[in-house]
Amino acid sequence: MGQGKKLFIKTYGCQMNVYDSERMAEAMGTRDYALTDRPDDADMILLNTCHIREKAAEKVYSELGRMKALKVGRPDLKIGVAGCVAQAEGAEIMRRAPMVDLVVGPQSYHRLPAMSDALARGERALDTDFPEEDKFAHLAARPKAQRAPSAFLTVQEGCDKFCAFCVVPYTRGAEVSRPAARIIEEARDLVERGVREITLLGQNVNAYHGHDGGLAGLIRDLAGIDGLARIRYTTSHPNDMDDALIAAHGEVEQLMPYLHLPVQSGSDKVLKAMNRKHTAESYLRLIERIRAMRPDILFSGDFIVGFPGEDEADFDATMDLVRAVHYGQCYSFKYSTRPGTPAAERPQVDEDAKADRLKRLQSLLGEQQRASQDAMIGREVGVLFEKPGRRAGQMGGKSDHLHAVHVQADVAPGTLSRVRITGSAANSLSGELI
Ligand code: SAH
Ligand code: SF4
Ligand code: F3S
Repeated sequence: MGQGKKLFIKTYGCQMNVYDSERMAEAMGTRDYALTDRPDDADMILLNTCHIREKAAEKVYSELGRMKALKVGRPDLKIGVAGCVAQAEGAEIMRRAPMVDLVVGPQSYHRLPAMSDALARGERALDTDFPEEDKFAHLAARPKAQRAPSAFLTVQEGCDKFCAFCVVPYTRGAEVSRPAARIIEEARDLVERGVREITLLGQNVNAYHGHDGGLAGLIRDLAGIDGLARIRYTTSHPNDMDDALIAAHGEVEQLMPYLHLPVQSGSDKVLKAMNRKHTAESYLRLIERIRAMRPDILFSGDFIVGFPGEDEADFDATMDLVRAVHYGQCYSFKYSTRPGTPAAERPQVDEDAKADRLKRLQSLLGEQQRASQDAMIGREVGVLFEKPGRRAGQMGGKSDHLHAVHVQADVAPGTLSRVRITGSAANSLSGELI
């Protein structure tokens, strides 16, 4: 020990990867690695990758191409690939990219320190098992350092839903929930270190079953932690929004009025082909029920255009659904063929049609985002301040509705204040402290 090596991690993909990267950094702390934000300064580089769309996966190989140059002058530099590309492609990465020393799948991060010992002996290491043991239980305890006011906490991993377009069930494996007691312990520890907002993460977070009362039960227990001011959760599946969770939105003060609830399409024909197991109508009814509990809640969603078999009438149904919901913010994508998923084998929609539909959808979603921001002007909102804004003297944070808000004032990070919204720009709001 004591040599003080440096680790650089580049994170792609979803928030679960962000959380995993933190935990990998902590695990490597046990081997005397400290994080650096400079790849050219690192003894080890880890790419924590995403396989969700073709572009995401291709990025990894182009990044590895660039890293090759770094390795030329520094033969001791170790390069590792983690995350969903590691899981999906495994040994193929080592074959295609000989400069890669280590490949580790998302369920094996607790084995990373031991794998790095193998690298130190000059070996290459590969582990893409789905081991029986819980990786979180075997990962190093989180160090006691002070933390930013907002933190992620993974409570559930994996997915059993098998949407016909999606790689996640293959890269992350079956649904597994962490025991509630461990999550509560980790949350208490985060709060002791300055965290005031926790976002519970899972590929299907509302399928969480590590608590007798499901996700709602866990949220109610977390709400009892002194000093934890805000709770959020993502990503939810419409079919797992049970009555208890809907009720929690009306009853748990700490649960914030923002919900990411992906629907993917507004056409029942496409939803069926996607294996989503819900209809446009059932989704709209669900939205109504949640709004009845929490009228000011903002929804966000995910959409895929150009799924195999989607025609103009199906796309129109998606536009109609968007108009009916009125979202606060959304993510939308062209369907991307993923090897090994059922939809990859079907006749594909023409690229130009996909591009055209995406443009029309994004223009509508952009209007809705703008309208939902403009509607905040004149309102009083809670803001959790996190870090200085771009301009001098500015402080920025997130509103209850997850809007980025900045004020011209000196406020300490971690302060939760009331703010009157005075302006709305492209992706943020401005306001004044009350
Ligand atoms: N568990 C989450 C989604 C994870 S992937 C959920 O069920 O919502 C995030 C988003 O990526 C998905 O909601 C979907 O809109 C998009 N996505 C997934 N696979 C895709 C593909 N093959 N092509 C395009 N977009 C995809
Ligand atoms: Fe993918 Fe569907 Fe599972 Fe979400 S619910 S992770 S989109 S298979
Ligand atoms: Fe990507 Fe894996 Fe997350 S494929 S979106 S990093 S679960």
